Amino acid sequence: MKDEAANDVSLDRQWRSSMMANSGRDPYWQAGVRNEVLVNPAYADFIQDKCTTCHMPMARFTESVYTRQGRLLDGGFADPQDALHTLAMDGVSCTLCHQIEGANFGQPESFSGHYEIDTTLPTGQRHAYGPFEVTQANSLVMQGSSGFIPTQGLHVQESELCGTCHTLYTPTLNAAGEIVGEFAEQMVYPEWKHSRYSQTDSCVVCHLPAAEGGVVLSITGGELRQPFMQHIFVGANFYMPDLLRRYRDELLVSAGDDHFEATIALVMDQLQNSTATLALENLGLADGTLTAEVVISSQVGHKFPTSYPSRRAWLHVTIRDAAGKVIFESGAFNPDGSIAGNDNDADAARYEPHYTAITAPDQVQIYEAIMGDVDGLPTTTLLRGAGYLKDNRLLPEGFDKTTAPPDFQVWGDAAEDDDFIGGADRVLYAVPVGEAQGPFTIEAELLYQSIAYRWAHNLARHDSFETNRFLGYYTETPSPAGLVAAISATIP
Ligand code: HEC
Ligand code: HEC
Ligand code: HEC
Ligand code: HEC
Repeated sequence: MKDEAANDVSLDRQWRSSMMANSGRDPYWQAGVRNEVLVNPAYADFIQDKCTTCHMPMARFTESVYTRQGRLLDGGFADPQDALHTLAMDGVSCTLCHQIEGANFGQPESFSGHYEIDTTLPTGQRHAYGPFEVTQANSLVMQGSSGFIPTQGLHVQESELCGTCHTLYTPTLNAAGEIVGEFAEQMVYPEWKHSRYSQTDSCVVCHLPAAEGGVVLSITGGELRQPFMQHIFVGANFYMPDLLRRYRDELLVSAGDDHFEATIALVMDQLQNSTATLALENLGLADGTLTAEVVISSQVGHKFPTSYPSRRAWLHVTIRDAAGKVIFESGAFNPDGSIAGNDNDADAARYEPHYTAITAPDQVQIYEAIMGDVDGLPTTTLLRGAGYLKDNRLLPEGFDKTTAPPDFQVWGDAAEDDDFIGGADRVLYAVPVGEAQGPFTIEAELLYQSIAYRWAHNLARHDSFETNRFLGYYTETPSPAGLVAAISATIP
């Protein structure tokens, strides 16, 4: 499929290397499910059913129609012999999204993967909803070749469709294995709803960007349809597409290397050009102390980083003297995937607070969500999550932190930081320069990582196929730091 600028916008090709097409193959997800089951063994069936609801929705939904549960491990959907294996491995695919009905959209009962699909119609006569009006002739062609009747349904354009899976609550278990509450784990849709973007840009606008001009949709030809929204579904994850590409044979991957390379290039482009910008303000040198304020402005339609709590963004700030010698550095990235000076990477029980001012190299401004269990200790096991001990992820523009409900409010010191507001944060760096000679150069980088060191290494307490496999990948190729923005200035 080509658009009017002759770009290849083939839906299948663009979708195939996306994370949604690979949500079932994802080796970190599979390791995550194994971890949950090993920590909470009494809930093994419940957990696998819960986790497959969104990650293997087609197979899991098919099973649930027959009142059986989604299952992944030990002879479940991951097993090539399983009857629903192929459907499971296709992740979030065409006929999942395009069959979703709109009746419960935006309602709490639609969240956590409770999308509705009409199963009363017999196979061969079910609707596939899309934005366009369809002619009788084209409808027959598609019904004949796919078994679905293309039907105009404008509800597919609504962010509430994405919100069915991109709003996730998980039960909270205590150490005794009792369910003691509910935890708001991923709140992308409510965050978006609480921002100014809910008035201007839907999820589709940013994540299925429009092609250039119209595209012919039917194999029988016919009119150019526009706007044609490209199915690239790019987020910030450039690590997992690379792992899927590297270990394609053992992970049963269907997309080609060139597909993944295209997806990774799109992710990098989005991270560097439409995620956040940096500025350096109020530079000064007085009484042997150099001061500078780093201002971050977010262009993201929800919190950044968002979604799965292993994501983090942080400031790497370096100051050099006249000879180019580094006299101060905070937030350096280590080759093993950890951040120098970050307490949480060194010790699972500790973490960096949100800072308004950084005055020493072992302080790092990290924008992240630190999940806490019922005892208030940091945890990376989802079903042990009782709340966030820290959530200073950058807020989208128009997000009023004072009116955000507890499910997606700001937690920790950022809540009281007056310049931590919708769309921005400002951090003061105040560094004694000692005997060093100016002019000084200050460089600030905003870096992003999909799978933080602690989130991978906490899996090491188990000895299982899925956790060993993922840790093996992570040790060989740690989740890299992606550059979002950089800026530098000289202080005379
Ligand atoms: C309501 C839908 C939903 C359910 C249910 C769900 N997830 Fe997810 N999960 C997601 C989405 C959406 C993402 C991607 C978010 C992102 O990219 O930040 C994700 C991402 C992940 C990731 C990170 C994958 C990567 O490559 O970085 C892991 C691990 C994970 N989920 C584990 C689980 C486990 C374990 C369960 C069951 C307890 C579960 N998920 C249940 C929607 C869901
Ligand atoms: C994550 C959900 C999702 C998945 C998966 C998905 N689509 Fe879509 N699709 C959408 C949405 C949303 C729109 C409507 C975009 C708009 O008009 O705002 C759409 C629009 C379309 C259109 C109309 C033309 C266009 O792109 O605007 C076609 C045709 C289509 N999808 C086919 C497919 C095929 C084929 C696949 C599988 C390769 C697929 N879709 C997978 C969500 C999805
Ligand atoms: C104004 C543009 C914009 C809008 C609107 C928007 N997003 Fe995003 N989204 C981004 C950008 C930029 C990123 C990459 C930075 C990040 O991870 O937050 C992103 C990242 C994501 C990620 C990936 C997080 C990860 O771990 O890689 C998910 C999932 C996501 N968005 C879902 C949604 C959903 C669902 C909606 C609608 C409720 C939405 N987005 C609305 C711009 C947008
Ligand atoms: C059936 C559930 C489901 C629906 C509906 C759904 N998603 Fe997703 N989405 C997922 C899962 C699961 C993942 C995570 C895959 C992983 O990381 O293993 C994901 C991942 C993503 C990512 C990539 C995140 C990354 O890590 O880079 C983006 C972007 C995204 N979804 C956007 C959307 C948008 C936009 C819509 C609505 C048009 C939508 N999704 C609808 C389940 C869903």
